[in-house]
Amino acid sequence: MTMENKNTQNLNCGCDPYLLSLVETPQEQQPVAKISNRSTGLLLASITGGAAIALSVVCFPFVAPALRRVVLPYVPASTQQVENVMKALSKSSTGGKKLIDLGSGDGRIVLAAGQRGFQSHGVELNTVLVLYSKLAAWRQRIKNATFSRQDLFKVDYTKYNNIVIFGVEEMMPELEALFEKSLTSSSQVIACRFPLPNWKPSHIIGEGIDTVWVYEV
Ligand SMILES: C[S@@+](CC[C@H](N)C(=O)[O-])C[C@H]1O[C@@H](n2cnc3c(N)ncnc32)[C@H](O)[C@@H]1O
Repeated sequence: MTMENKNTQNLNCGCDPYLLSLVETPQEQQPVAKISNRSTGLLLASITGGAAIALSVVCFPFVAPALRRVVLPYVPASTQQVENVMKALSKSSTGGKKLIDLGSGDGRIVLAAGQRGFQSHGVELNTVLVLYSKLAAWRQRIKNATFSRQDLFKVDYTKYNNIVIFGVEEMMPELEALFEKSLTSSSQVIACRFPLPNWKPSHIIGEGIDTVWVYEV
């Protein structure tokens, strides 16, 4: 039956045309409902996809160190470890006030040294941690604590008197060779948790995982 016949039949039934139009309306609206379901699906898919991409972008800097030749993950120094580094700085015989933290993480060692008057700088591969550290320095108003995104194996150490490293055992021989080549007698190396394999420390502070080895060059 065509629409025209149907309408004619409806009019012939003596029913109120207005009421008839109300009865027919839901059938005419069905395609609109289908379209709106499809758009909701597309919207949900876009939101989920966007969230997955955003999450990957934020997580990538934390996973990237695992793809490098020497894997140095982000493990923040404990409060005791930071205190031990500060003790090492206060005992320093070099008297120099320039410090660099190689792989500065969230910046806690650089910030603590900055608060004690050291011109301190942190180099870190993870962009998110570099931004976080800069923000922390700004919020705590520590102007002499700075940070940059840099590879610790490509830094010029020569202008620093205090070189702090919280690394992993596998990277210490390579670092020791680098220090041997570039450091002068006005500097000291402070190694956290893992010592340099061949150098003799001038003193050792703390114990267990919080141990700090101090080497006067
Ligand atoms: C064990 S955490 C130490 C963090 C900080 N120094 C502390 O004591 O809290 C090592 C840090 O080095 C960073 N890192 C790893 N490889 C690096 C590289 N080649 N150059 C610079 N930073 C690196 C990691 O992202 C991580 O934040």
